[in-house]
Amino acid sequence: MKLLSVASEIYPLVKTGGLADVVGALPGALASQGVEVRTLVPGYPSVLAHLGKAKAVRRYSALFGASATVLAAHVGGLDLLVLDAPDFFAREGGPYGDAGGNEWSDNWRRFAALSQVAADLAVDGIRGWCPDIVHAHDWQAAMAAAYLRFGPGHAIPSVVTIHNLAFQGRFPADIFPALGLPPEAWGMDGVEYYGGIGYLKAGLVSAAAITTVSPTYAEEIRSPAHGMGLDGLVNGRADRLHGILNGIDMDIWNPAADTLIAKPFAARSLTARTANRRALETRFGLDRDAAPLFIIVSRLTWQKGMDLMIGAIDHLVGLGAKLSVLGSGDHPLEGAFLAASDQHRGRVSVQIGYDEPLSHLMQAGGDAILIPSRFEPCGLTQLYGLRYGCVPVVARVGGLADTVIDANEAAVASGAATGILFPPSDPLALHGAIARAVDLHGDRPAWQAMQRAGMRADFSWTRSAARYAALFRSLAAEAA
Ligand code: ADP
Ligand code: GLC
Repeated sequence: MKLLSVASEIYPLVKTGGLADVVGALPGALASQGVEVRTLVPGYPSVLAHLGKAKAVRRYSALFGASATVLAAHVGGLDLLVLDAPDFFAREGGPYGDAGGNEWSDNWRRFAALSQVAADLAVDGIRGWCPDIVHAHDWQAAMAAAYLRFGPGHAIPSVVTIHNLAFQGRFPADIFPALGLPPEAWGMDGVEYYGGIGYLKAGLVSAAAITTVSPTYAEEIRSPAHGMGLDGLVNGRADRLHGILNGIDMDIWNPAADTLIAKPFAARSLTARTANRRALETRFGLDRDAAPLFIIVSRLTWQKGMDLMIGAIDHLVGLGAKLSVLGSGDHPLEGAFLAASDQHRGRVSVQIGYDEPLSHLMQAGGDAILIPSRFEPCGLTQLYGLRYGCVPVVARVGGLADTVIDANEAAVASGAATGILFPPSDPLALHGAIARAVDLHGDRPAWQAMQRAGMRADFSWTRSAARYAALFRSLAAEAA
């Protein structure tokens, strides 16, 4: 079976978060299930720089007013289709906005173009390669489902995967004529959303199936508390909604063979973690001692509960623990973390920015990773923590609840515990969880049992890729 995947990020070429990791890892995992994947991504400078030999497979003289070429290339095991449209994508800054964090004003056009091209490629094929199904990730690609449904591709089934319902791609109604959709695409059952246009919404009503990146998130978004205004729609399509847990790339995140860390290790050689811990303390200018070392690798945002975290730093330090933070995001939160590190020199240290190699060393050298998210569609950093013996201390929400086993008495006694869970959005619960982690860390056998249980757990893509493949096959059969 052939699948055209469409997304705005793909590891290792362009990444702002977990979406890229998933889009980069799924093709390999699906290949083992007999699904041949080609992935369409925007031709950002960082993508074009890595293409090497590429073939032009389709040209547009006026794609939403711009000239564009679709390039086909193999990069590091990925079969890529790259939308080279300099007017849209050849820009300094991030994939969605400038270096100052302001979103590009023509994002509606950039991602409508990406989606339109996906639909065109699905309909016409690429030199005889015709996908059986289209898989669109998040709002930036979701319109592909609408372009298929309201165009010549209406017989081709599509799946829209929600990585984060908080980002919906909402635009004013007056762009509608420029989208090139027929008049019947306007309306409640089309792109219209609260008087404007919703790209994710349009995808969710148009797709043959909707998936989320964890089973618990699939349930949560059916309620107003987590539905972000789309819970009614999601409930109406509940029979088409599937929660499929993300996996991790077991080669990129493998503590036994990771060249980005100070010393490789495995579950039976946990003492080798000490070298990573020392390297981490040195790198962050933290005191060298045996106190529990918490890490944070995160976007610094409200979703991630980073404001709650700021409020817990004095408590963490008061318990004798240390904290190293790597992240970037909201400027007031960045400032608050930096102020905390000034106040607690040697105990709290913060690096603002994005640093993939450093994130590996942190998972390898930290004792516990803190993830106090208010909501979390899946979360990958707790999975990397589990694999690296960096015990997750996480809010019981979304994919965090699906992947970490709380160290309650029964789970500790049976050796099943892999981390600590606490109620989300609750400052006192976060304090309590940090205190529990510090206590448990003092009980070496119990702590090491947790580390080993986490490292043994299988979060590879194998099971989830099989679920995706089964879904794709059933939709293709239904469409035939
Ligand atoms: P989200 O996609 O919501 O940000 P995930 O946990 O799914 O959350 O994925 C985040 C990904 O981005 C992980 O691969 C994580 O290691 C990485 N990451 C986040 N912040 C940083 C950072 N400042 N430096 C390096 N990697 C980061
Ligand atoms: C989103 C979510 C995160 C998820 C990631 C990959 O960024 O916030 O929870 O792990 O997508 O699916």
